[in-house]
Amino acid sequence: MTLVAHERFQAAPSEPEYELDRERQTVAAGAAAITLKGLEKSFGSNRVLRGISLHIPAGQFVAVIGKSGCGKSTLLRILMGLDEPSAGELHFEDEAGADTHANARIVFQEPRLLPWLSVADNVAVGLGDRIDRQAARAAAEAVLNEVQLAEKASEWPSRLSGGQRQRVALARALVSRPGVLALDEPLGALDALTRISMQELISRVWRELGFTTVLVTHDVSEAVHLADRVIVLDEGRVALDLAIPDPHPRRHGNAKLAELEGRLLAAILGSDVP
Ligand SMILES: Nc1ncnc2c1ncn2[C@@H]1O[C@H](COP(=O)(O)OP(=O)(O)O)[C@@H](O)[C@H]1O
Ligand SMILES: [Mg+2]
Repeated sequence: MTLVAHERFQAAPSEPEYELDRERQTVAAGAAAITLKGLEKSFGSNRVLRGISLHIPAGQFVAVIGKSGCGKSTLLRILMGLDEPSAGELHFEDEAGADTHANARIVFQEPRLLPWLSVADNVAVGLGDRIDRQAARAAAEAVLNEVQLAEKASEWPSRLSGGQRQRVALARALVSRPGVLALDEPLGALDALTRISMQELISRVWRELGFTTVLVTHDVSEAVHLADRVIVLDEGRVALDLAIPDPHPRRHGNAKLAELEGRLLAAILGSDVP
């Protein structure tokens, strides 16, 4: 997919080179690279995104952090094709670097399940209606197994805990084997322990399935725990683009990661620190 709204191009500040360690990490056949060039978005006179240029290699896990209102959700909506940029370009690229249409899915903070459908049927919604019921049910059960909810397939959403509902939402996003998964504060409404187990789950399915991931979170420690790379947005620009070189899966309480977390927090808080 290509969206060309404007010819302007601005280089990202000191964008590092990223190479995925292919020994360590599966990259799914359908995983797409993402390129943004000079992406801008304004709502009236409110210039929310002011020239975002990034290249995200296929299979990379990127976290986007920044203050509330800095444009994180706007960026994800544009990535998902739910909104149009005011200027700049967005491309998805296949392994050969050719423009492609990515199968991109998103999970929001609220699971947005349909209360009148069973858990398995909610997951099957992610397949659309191009596939017959029996095949859809089989695919839904397979992915429910991946998120450790196989035994809830026939249950109503109202009978699940908040964490379980969010796992159903993740399963619905994964059932079509996306090349790009966008997560907009997906764990923001969960309690601390459920968050940690969901973080491990997201990390595991990402390592197993190998899609490109863009996670928006306000939790810096979550970003550093999960991502290959953390991007700080500030006033519509990339304020910091930091590689997190530690292999996955990661332990909580790692001193090197704590140091990176401190740098990221300082970049977000900036002049707000007394
Ligand atoms: N549909 C919209 N119409 C007008 N303004 C919007 C719209 N969506 C977002 N905004 C504005 O864009 C800015 C960034 O919002 P958002 O991307 O939701 O921030 P974040 O997710 O980082 O908290 C805010 O000032 C918000 O009010
Ligand atoms: Mg948001």
